[in-house]
Amino acid sequence: MNRKGRGGRMGHGPPKGQRGSAPVRVVTRYAVVEELASLGATVHTCSRNEAQLNECLHEWKMKGFRVTGSICDAVSRTQREELMSTVSYMFNGKLNILINNVGTSTSKPTLVYTAEDFSFLISTNLESAYHMCQLAYPLLKASEAGSIVFISSVAGVVATSTGGSIYSAAKGAINQLAKNLACEWAKDNIRSNSVAPWFIKTPLAETYLSNEKLSEAVNCQTPLGRAGEPKEVSSLVAFLCLPAASYMSDCLR
Ligand SMILES: NC(=O)c1ccc[n+]([C@@H]2O[C@H](COP(=O)([O-])OP(=O)(O)OC[C@H]3O[C@@H](n4cnc5c(N)ncnc54)[C@H](OP(=O)(O)O)[C@@H]3O)[C@@H](O)[C@H]2O)c1
Repeated sequence: MNRKGRGGRMGHGPPKGQRGSAPVRVVTRYAVVEELASLGATVHTCSRNEAQLNECLHEWKMKGFRVTGSICDAVSRTQREELMSTVSYMFNGKLNILINNVGTSTSKPTLVYTAEDFSFLISTNLESAYHMCQLAYPLLKASEAGSIVFISSVAGVVATSTGGSIYSAAKGAINQLAKNLACEWAKDNIRSNSVAPWFIKTPLAETYLSNEKLSEAVNCQTPLGRAGEPKEVSSLVAFLCLPAASYMSDCLR
């Protein structure tokens, strides 16, 4: 995402009357794109699903947001390279913000996971973000004010009975990656932070939250007594990208 791109300005609200219609599919990515675009960022997003992406892009266009998108399976190294090459072309080689939001989990007992499960979950949750950072580095550096936000998870900080051990290990590694980049790339004025949500009302958490017993268990372990909304994650993500957060790096929230 480019904070300055084409007259965009972070910190300003959306034009009048451009908030409020129901999202096509409420995933964290959708909320993050909306949040940043509403603050004036020019955003390039990706999805594996062309029909859904086009529907979202149309909706954002109607709201006056500057959002473009690519089809990309983040598990594919080639497609990640193509995505970043598109971003570089569109943003003239400069990028202010990289959000690593891609993630998925399959919860199984550790002894049941296969080698394929391991490879798929690590590739989706960790390798894709690692490689995206490598690819984005020259663009973030060129912007002279870069910010990376990783969407991690509470499961990457403490052991939970949800998500599964591979997902948890990948999210723990994401937190450590965010910390390392915060130190390694500070000299290039690139900040790096992690946001670690607990249960958020998206399709990923649907299995748990639609089950009354499991949902109650989640609520009991949550200080506010309820699952979060995607918007409650995206507002924090956006804050970490604002000039107001210019001294925040190596944070895990
Ligand atoms: N929901 C929660 O309770 C919760 C809690 C903690 C952390 N998180 C984290 O929040 C992030 C967003 O998850 P969500 O809750 O919004 O889950 P979701 O509803 O399942 O959405 C997953 C997102 O990841 C994208 N994605 C998954 N695999 C991909 C791939 N191979 N290539 C490209 N995109 C891929 C999906 O895009 P397409 O399907 O459009 O391709 C979608 O945007 C994840 O990193 C997740 O681990 C979620």
